[in-house]
Amino acid sequence: MSGTSSTSSTSSTSDITGTNGIKGTAELLARVEAAQQQGEQALAGAPTTADLKAAEAELLGRKSALAQLNTCLRDLTPEDRKLVGQAVNDARAKLISALANKKADLDAVDRARALQADRLDLTESLRTTSPSGVIQDRGHLHLVTQTRDELEDTFVAMGFSVAEGPEAETDWYNFEALNMPPAHPARGMWDTLYLKLGAPETVLLRTHTSPVQIHLMENQKPPIYAVMPGRCYRRDTPDARHLPVFHQIEGLVVDRGITFGDLAGTIEAFTEAFFGPGMHSRLRPSYFPFTEPSAEFEVTCPICGGDGCRTCSGSGWIELGGCGMVDPEVFAAVGIDPEEYSGFAFGFGIDRLAQVRHGIEDMRILLDNDLRFISQF
Ligand code: PHE
Repeated sequence: MSGTSSTSSTSSTSDITGTNGIKGTAELLARVEAAQQQGEQALAGAPTTADLKAAEAELLGRKSALAQLNTCLRDLTPEDRKLVGQAVNDARAKLISALANKKADLDAVDRARALQADRLDLTESLRTTSPSGVIQDRGHLHLVTQTRDELEDTFVAMGFSVAEGPEAETDWYNFEALNMPPAHPARGMWDTLYLKLGAPETVLLRTHTSPVQIHLMENQKPPIYAVMPGRCYRRDTPDARHLPVFHQIEGLVVDRGITFGDLAGTIEAFTEAFFGPGMHSRLRPSYFPFTEPSAEFEVTCPICGGDGCRTCSGSGWIELGGCGMVDPEVFAAVGIDPEEYSGFAFGFGIDRLAQVRHGIEDMRILLDNDLRFISQF
């Protein structure tokens, strides 16, 4: 080791002293100054602490330019030796202090970088990747909310406006104004949850969105073209096709000269717009106290496209909801003249729609908050 080192020193020294003997003191001093300047430049340009370590060995180590200059001292007169020796020591001291300053700077940069890396990011973003590479998703709207939004968009595009009404209703709005006087047998179609408010059985959780029709017609003169989505409640035991808390969307059109053909055409146009081309609707006679005539409407089974499958029991059709022409008794309850105006209404379950559209076997999973299910939509 030391042999190699002394060989290289010797050859370097000969650069300075040359074959003709000792170079001038002035030149040695110039070399000291040049070594210092180059050293300072090298330190200033070091981008990382690792680079700084390498520069330290090169500038101050045994093979450094300054160390080599030191070996030339022995050939000088004692006076010049003192002079050049002092210059070498000064240059060394300057480089050592420049090195310390640069190290402090780079340490500060490293610390800032580490702090930045460890920082908790509390800002929202759709998708983040953890330092270990795990992709993390922000939550999204529930399938039922997505379906409701899509339904609203579809109806708005068809020219409907969107209205809402209260979930706690009086008997009048949920039943009586809809042509179901007290003790009317048709009330049995809805298993009602009553609230302990006022006289017994006068305030309830709405069993359908049809009471919003009444609010709308009380507050707004025809023409009316509106859809009314919202939460409904029934005293049902949850099972694969029923939830005690569910969602409906109601449609109401009141204008001059509205016919059953307009109802059928609207349902058909909606079916195509919502489910896509090739999907159709059909009406089958039914009964609701607030519409006359009344119908149930069915749409092409979204699972099999009409070929017949388990979901549609082989028929190719899925029942979606009820509809009909607004009963004159309902117009009478809200003070609209049935001689001047006619209209139609329809209503269906949003959760049920999502269920058939996505082939969900059991509706109860909609309320389970199981991410393995929820994140599929
Ligand atoms: N409200 C009815 C139900 O809950 C559906 C319906 C709405 C029927 C409008 C006719 C007209 O079943």
